[in-house]
Amino acid sequence: MAAVLTAQKMSVGYSGVPVVREIDLEVKAGEVVAVLGPNGAGKTTTLLGLAGALPLIGGSVDFLGEPLSGKLVRNVRRGLGLLTDDRAIFRDLTVAQNLALGRGCAGDALVAFPALARLQNRKAGLLSGGEQQMLGLGRIIAAQPKLLLADELSLGLAPVVVKSLLTEVRRLADEGAAVVLVEQHVRMVLDIADRAVVLNRGTVAFTGDAAELAHDEERLSRAYLSTPA
Ligand SMILES: Nc1ncnc2c1ncn2[C@@H]1O[C@H](COP(=O)(O)OP(=O)(O)OP(=O)(O)O)[C@@H](O)[C@H]1O
Ligand SMILES: [Mg+2]
Repeated sequence: MAAVLTAQKMSVGYSGVPVVREIDLEVKAGEVVAVLGPNGAGKTTTLLGLAGALPLIGGSVDFLGEPLSGKLVRNVRRGLGLLTDDRAIFRDLTVAQNLALGRGCAGDALVAFPALARLQNRKAGLLSGGEQQMLGLGRIIAAQPKLLLADELSLGLAPVVVKSLLTEVRRLADEGAAVVLVEQHVRMVLDIADRAVVLNRGTVAFTGDAAELAHDEERLSRAYLSTPA
């Protein structure tokens, strides 16, 4: 399978100061890569760099064989779906209006998340956290992205909702998308991921097979113990 996303020695940060350094990452079509690590390790910063939402300080990121644009909207037009913690919904619009504004067919979002069907006339801001996340992810899934980058998809949600979101993410990958997931529900994400990357203090501490990592208790607990600066 061809690489959808290739980061080589990517350094990204804020005000010209790198927070993550020299990240190498390749994600192929059909593959789910989990990005794990302790709070402050640089997971969100990495994802924003991969999306073109933060300027590169060093290295390169290629998306579908071309250098990533520094303009997020251009990358979205080329097939990027980015789901960050603002949940990517318009709170004052109804569910139906949110879906109509998406790039794809609203019906596809309802197929992925049937629970949204009876909520079509409700304002998105009045939905529960899980319903909002289904709406945000549903809109992205309906647009049939070639690459999905999602940050803490499951933040604050009940395990049963997390499972349904992750199931749809896996399905999207099985249909050919490349996926990068930053996730705190480590066990659940390793269940659906192919590979895992563990970040610590802005660099890659481990990269390998998700199933192997899931069975390596020692490495997993080490991944969440940040070493002092
Ligand atoms: N806008 C910003 N300006 C300056 N520094 C920032 C900014 N956002 C994050 N940082 C710093 O970059 C480092 C990495 O932050 P990042 O948000 O990428 O971590 P994370 O791994 O996503 O953490 P968490 O698990 O808590 O979400 C932290 O030290 C953080 O303080
Ligand atoms: Mg984060």
